[in-house]
Amino acid sequence: SHSLSIKASSSSSSTAIAEPEGIKINTVPTKPIEGQKTGTSGLRKKVKVFMQENYLANWIQALFNSLSPEDYKNGLLVLGGDGRYFNKEASQIIIKIAAGNGVGKVLVGKEGIMSTPAVSAVIRKRKANGGFIMSASHNPGGPDYDWGIKFNYNSGQPAPESITDKIYGNTLSISQIKIADIPDIDLSRLGVTKYGNFIVEVVDPVSDYLELMEHVFDFELIRSLLSRPDFRFIFDAMHAVTGAYAKPIFVDKLGASLDSIANGVPLEDFGHGHPDPNLTYAKDLVNIMYSKNGPDFGAASDGDGDRNMILGRGFFVTPSDSVAIIAANSQGAIPYFKNGPKGLARSMPTSGALDRVAEKLNLPFFEVPTGWKFFGNLMDDGKLSICGEESFGTGSDHIREKDGIWAVLAWLSIIAHRNKDKKPGEKLVSVADVVKEHWATFGRNFFSRYDYEECESEGANKMIEYLRDSISKSKQGDKHGSYVLQYADDFKYTDPVDGSVVTKQGVRFVFTDGSRIIFRLSGTGSAGATVRMYIEQFEPDASKHEMDAQTALKPLIDLAFSLSKLKDFTGREQPTVIT
Ligand code: G6P
Ligand code: ZN
Repeated sequence: SHSLSIKASSSSSSTAIAEPEGIKINTVPTKPIEGQKTGTSGLRKKVKVFMQENYLANWIQALFNSLSPEDYKNGLLVLGGDGRYFNKEASQIIIKIAAGNGVGKVLVGKEGIMSTPAVSAVIRKRKANGGFIMSASHNPGGPDYDWGIKFNYNSGQPAPESITDKIYGNTLSISQIKIADIPDIDLSRLGVTKYGNFIVEVVDPVSDYLELMEHVFDFELIRSLLSRPDFRFIFDAMHAVTGAYAKPIFVDKLGASLDSIANGVPLEDFGHGHPDPNLTYAKDLVNIMYSKNGPDFGAASDGDGDRNMILGRGFFVTPSDSVAIIAANSQGAIPYFKNGPKGLARSMPTSGALDRVAEKLNLPFFEVPTGWKFFGNLMDDGKLSICGEESFGTGSDHIREKDGIWAVLAWLSIIAHRNKDKKPGEKLVSVADVVKEHWATFGRNFFSRYDYEECESEGANKMIEYLRDSISKSKQGDKHGSYVLQYADDFKYTDPVDGSVVTKQGVRFVFTDGSRIIFRLSGTGSAGATVRMYIEQFEPDASKHEMDAQTALKPLIDLAFSLSKLKDFTGREQPTVIT
């Protein structure tokens, strides 16, 4: 295995230094490896790449080389992961290198498991210096699929580019790895093990997170709903990390029946699944929810537990509506927001449903570029409580990651709050009722996203160039059929807290009726270019709210094709995925 290869090379060619801490630290010579550049979602590659000699070890050592010693020496680091293939071997490598670099203590989830939101929560609660998350999020796992590693710093937030750029620089000049000569840790047993002054604590991955959830939500309220015989709930953990959380939280604490948890055992290959909670990859759940006499409430979460999908019986809640509805109902239903949320925010391509809530509640509102990291500064500055993205991410300032189970508990709280006085046999207010009432009050923002995956990069880049050129020629009042242009631009964002500026975050055409057409290239695709086209139209007229989104948006979708010449540039007639 990987750790063995490190041990083998250390015994032959390394020097052992006696450390005052009382553990032996080996210095293993290594060479730089190309291509270890991380985004803010960390380093993601095929697992076979990570299993090459020193591949992971180099990156971990480069990370320590990038931090100032006071940020980790004798400090506390958290280690978690989504349970995917290679996490157990990787845990041993990470723990030994952490010890080798003078970290005082590593707190690791049992079996190496801890969800992304839980790692963020544990870092904050335990005042850790940071933490590692072993996950490739919603990408498939197993010997032929993906692996990933991400570093979050002491606020519980993914490391900023200033750190990830440094790590990359150091991967190109690395010459040695410092690794402690300690035995493999038994990750299956809770408890503390000491090696000299270095401590490893294997913890229950659920307890700190659960404690936070009990602080945020009214568990009695949710329990009153989940224990009703006339309310049926299903949570699909997709054989991913929330499998470890679902039973302790939904069943043991909140009274849901055991059979309400589907695919509740985390598996290294997610049961051959693609752990992404959307209409395409969570098809089993969707079929159950759209079947005759299906459950009243369905939800799913992704590989590492930060994404969510919410469904009612025969009803899909689009993520852009979900965050708006949570925000609108938060004060009454969720104790954490009892004084009202401080502010609301969404990513630029996310629909404007949330804007209308902010306006009505008279709350500060922010539109940020795509990527959860842009919310963090606003939260740290006390400007933001609830935020979301169209890409199935919803969350709040209780941590610094999006949070799948939090979103499910938020929805359950809203439904429970609306039904708390309902007697047995009385008809309950459903998920669909809540959404439709929301539309009736605020208007409906029809929204759809078209994805064109694995396009030729050249054609995709040319299309974006073409669009940039056409926005520079556009002006207010330009007529496109019945749509009148308000403005067209390439989204630029100035962080209101630190003044930093990011440009070229998506080309958008905004019309006088509030309709929007947006194009951007995905920052997370792994092969070629993924073109995303986002279409949105506001409809105040309640008599039109029941329309199918694709039908309602058809004229705008056609306009988007003609504005972009998408089919000419990409050679694609049909999108890969429609959300
Ligand atoms: C990750 C980030 C999200 C972001 C998404 C965008 O999941 O955590 O915050 O919305 O990527 O992905 P894209 O492929 O559209 O760049
Ligand atoms: Zn994820």
